[in-house]
Amino acid sequence: MEPQKILEQIKSSGRNAEEVLKMAYDMQRSIVLYESGIQEVRTKLEILQREAQTKGGHTPIETIKSRVKNVFSVLEKLERKGFEVSMKSVEENLHDVAGIRVICPYIEDIYEVAEWLRRQDDLRILIEKDYIKNPKPNGYRSFHMVVEVPVFLADSKRYVRVEIQLRTIAMDFWASLEHQIHYKGPEAVPGSISSKLRQCAQTIAAIDEQMLEIYKEVRALPDKEV
Ligand code: GTP
Ligand code: MG
Repeated sequence: MEPQKILEQIKSSGRNAEEVLKMAYDMQRSIVLYESGIQEVRTKLEILQREAQTKGGHTPIETIKSRVKNVFSVLEKLERKGFEVSMKSVEENLHDVAGIRVICPYIEDIYEVAEWLRRQDDLRILIEKDYIKNPKPNGYRSFHMVVEVPVFLADSKRYVRVEIQLRTIAMDFWASLEHQIHYKGPEAVPGSISSKLRQCAQTIAAIDEQMLEIYKEVRALPDKEV
């Protein structure tokens, strides 16, 4: 959403300008924490990726993307969900200020990466949501985890919350386009479009299953003589 629109929304809800400004200021100072949280988790994932590459086998991670939510999106979400506007409220109520998206080749890689994250004994796993086994009604599929990762500052240790979304390349293709259509496109998307999108999600899920079957068959073939 545009900053101007968010501002109007906040004004009309009767928020105190000082309170909003204070939150934005505190948020700006906390960005380093969220960025560090992302960096910590990203490093873990890159180690897994590199180790697999070194072994010369299959790499369960195709790409890693990350972002820190900007202060306007944070304000918009607090406003939309009716939460208090303060940094304390952000820390307590928002899971996705720091977000990492892990794109995997096959569905089974997602579960392997998730299991591997569970084994990291410095990570606290807060939430797991399996939208692959239980897709959203609109067809959305991904595996979500919310974790807390320790970040060491000069004089303290802080646990930073990071949302990790694990998806196949195909699921990411669908989710990225669906997001553009809904969030950046016209305000109300007609039902016919929603049902076409749901249909596409099903087709994509079937292709993911087929690709995994092919991969399993290839894996079972004897190694090529060198
Ligand atoms: P949010 O308040 O929207 O973050 O949802 P939530 O707290 O109920 O968590 P959920 O696990 O449902 O969604 C978290 C994030 O997953 C969202 O911020 C999106 O990035 C992504 N997501 C969830 N549902 C959809 C969807 O239908 N389409 C797309 N493209 N992304 C989605
Ligand atoms: Mg979100």
